[in-house]
Amino acid sequence: MEDSNWTVGRVARRCGVKVSTLHFYEKKGLIRSWRNAGNQRRYKADVLRRISVIKAAQKMGISLEEIRRALATLPDNRTPTAGDWAALSANWRDDLDARIAYLERLRDLLTGCIGCGCLSMKNCPIYNENDKLAREGDGPVILERGAPR
Ligand code: FES
Repeated sequence: MEDSNWTVGRVARRCGVKVSTLHFYEKKGLIRSWRNAGNQRRYKADVLRRISVIKAAQKMGISLEEIRRALATLPDNRTPTAGDWAALSANWRDDLDARIAYLERLRDLLTGCIGCGCLSMKNCPIYNENDKLAREGDGPVILERGAPR
């Protein structure tokens, strides 16, 4: 089978996603297909890496819109090189570092509180005396400090 002649079913099987997921990704502008003479969708082989990146990025909490913008930096007219992929991942580096820092802070905050429930005025890092945090906004103010947008 040619490099640029992957059927939607083959891509779906190889990537472990549903055909409907591929259609969704395509509708969102994350991947692109071309049509053969029989008007059937075909994909170039680099779609496999794009889908892997999409899945990994989603697991890291990166929005589909951010993923779309990142993938849009890859060249359309040729298969992306290792350098193209490296540039894409470098752009996510700061964002990932911020997410990791937030999750570490959240882990540290919650480690003592999961299963505790004491809300000790002296010791609990999430204690909110007289709901004074309501002035800062709705939701879990302490836990969302430093959360990625
Ligand atoms: S709930 Fe007990 S330390 Fe936070």
